Amino acid sequence: MAEELYRPGLEGIIAGETEVSTVEQDSLAYRGYPIEQLAEHATFEEVAYLLLHDDLPTVGQLQEFTRRVDAHRNLPAAVTDTIARIPPQVPGMDVLRTAISMAGHFDQSSGGDREQLVEQAIHVLAVVPSIIATRLRLLDGKQPIDAKPGLSHAAQFLYQAFGEEPEALETRLIDLTLILYAEHEFNASAFAARVTTSTLSDMYSAIVTGVGTLKGPLHGGANEEAMRLIKRFSSGPEAKAWTEQAIVDKQKIMGFGHRVYKNGDHRARILEPLMADLARQRGQQNLLDVYFAIKDTIWERKQIHMNVDYPCGLTYYLMGLPIDVYTPLFVASRVTGWAAHVIEQFTNNRIIRPRSRYVGPALRDYRPAAQRG
Ligand SMILES: CC(C)(COP(=O)(O)OP(=O)(O)OC[C@H]1O[C@@H](n2cnc3c(N)ncnc32)[C@H](O)[C@@H]1OP(=O)(O)O)[C@@H](O)C(=O)NCCC(=O)NCCS
Repeated sequence: MAEELYRPGLEGIIAGETEVSTVEQDSLAYRGYPIEQLAEHATFEEVAYLLLHDDLPTVGQLQEFTRRVDAHRNLPAAVTDTIARIPPQVPGMDVLRTAISMAGHFDQSSGGDREQLVEQAIHVLAVVPSIIATRLRLLDGKQPIDAKPGLSHAAQFLYQAFGEEPEALETRLIDLTLILYAEHEFNASAFAARVTTSTLSDMYSAIVTGVGTLKGPLHGGANEEAMRLIKRFSSGPEAKAWTEQAIVDKQKIMGFGHRVYKNGDHRARILEPLMADLARQRGQQNLLDVYFAIKDTIWERKQIHMNVDYPCGLTYYLMGLPIDVYTPLFVASRVTGWAAHVIEQFTNNRIIRPRSRYVGPALRDYRPAAQRG
């Protein structure tokens, strides 16, 4: 065997080539477009198109794309029924995993060429907000609402969840988080989706792999855990005291740290000022005090930066969204990045199959059960 290379967690290993995005200390870009420019000027639909194709759409291409997404938004009755049968205590991410898989059975666009894969990606993109909103309404004892063609992806989710067209500010904030969450190179869930794809499996299997991987609190699940933490404290000093002790106890605090970024997460820096404005506008200075007390204490004691999940959790909370939908909303965006990676992997595939270093018992002889113990 060639020289053995082992890095726990694959840290620093180049595991493949991609044209989808670049994550660097000083920049994040989707297909070459800096995240700062996309966040300021683009809509999520443009970003979704960019990721699924090679460039930003023209006006005509964008209209056609949104028309195709709108055509698939309403869930088949069997999917709604399935969601209704899942016990109420089941987490939103588990519901989403099941419902996306179920919705896949109604997608006629099977096949593995590029056009078919884009069509499948559009299907998944369309149904995820509907699934999240349907679950929310059913848990609330309300009937699901059909999609309203013409609304943006962000507004569509809010409309289907709450039954009225949302305000511009709320739509803009969801849209912004969707843009920031859309893609991030070989993160754990995209890599997992690529591994599934590399066996020549299918788009839905890869997306469901992504959902299962994103759910964990070390990955996308951090936005929910970060908010659950902020909610525990009634003041900044209380949050500071807890954080100091947590650091002494070597606890992991969700919403902080990153495998790649060591000088801070570009996405968190973009979102935080808007989140802070929203908090002040909603008279929630106390939550802001807790937020900054945790953040500043982690920085003072450990020099660890926040990641995007930290401000995102509070942004969603200030909008009145239940915590259980925060990671599902991450999925509503990240399906585009996953699908882009699936398409790229299919286009230039080699099965992803690394080696392990064996550290178990040395070779030993089998003995019948009666002779053991
Ligand atoms: C993102 C994350 C999984 C990266 O893990 P990683 O690259 O393996 O980094 P490590 O866990 O080796 O961290 C390096 C050091 O920073 C510390 N650290 C990293 N993240 C931390 C956190 N969130 N809270 C407290 N300490 C943290 C580690 O304890 C370790 O300290 P040590 O050297 O004293 O042992 C990790 O930072 C983490 O668990 N963060 C919280 C979950 C989260 O927010 N995930 C969303 C990521 S976008």
